[in-house]
Amino acid sequence: MARGFYPSLIAIGLTALLASPVVAGERQRINYLLHCSGCHQPDGSGSPASGIPDMRGSIGYFLRVPEGRAFLVQVPGTSQSSLNDADTAELLNWMVRAMAKNEVPADFSPYTRDEVTRLRGHPLDDVTAVRTSVVGRLQQMGYRIE
Ligand code: HEC
Repeated sequence: MARGFYPSLIAIGLTALLASPVVAGERQRINYLLHCSGCHQPDGSGSPASGIPDMRGSIGYFLRVPEGRAFLVQVPGTSQSSLNDADTAELLNWMVRAMAKNEVPADFSPYTRDEVTRLRGHPLDDVTAVRTSVVGRLQQMGYRIE
């Protein structure tokens, strides 16, 4: 058997696996693990004591107001990653459901590449102030988010 045969088989297998609908979300999960989990932890629990919010059971709420929806893209961890706009949109669509399925509004329309492109062009001056304002609005609407 030619040397390199098995590695190529593995590469073909991996490519097929990642392209396969059977493992929908797997590509996004890998992007999350590679680009985000170093700070946010594989399960999204973050490190609240060091200023990295726990996204479990909460980030879905942000989709309920336009400035919250924008915030998930504009926050530096998302907007400054090396992922392109299409992959970022896919990652967020996967992430909100993987981490806060019950908080995502039923009429959520998925992020698109163009939306990410537009929002990335408008970085936030003061991340904490924007988050405080969005969270305040969500709390007024009755959502339990901190
Ligand atoms: C270097 C550490 C780091 C990395 C890597 C990182 N983040 Fe973050 N993330 C943070 C911090 C810190 C915050 C809190 C807001 C701030 O200070 O920017 C945050 C906040 C967020 C929030 C807002 C959550 C909330 O409840 O306010 C989202 C959404 C987010 N990050 C998504 C991502 C995504 C998606 C990636 C990967 C593409 C990523 N982050 C990578 C550190 C990181």
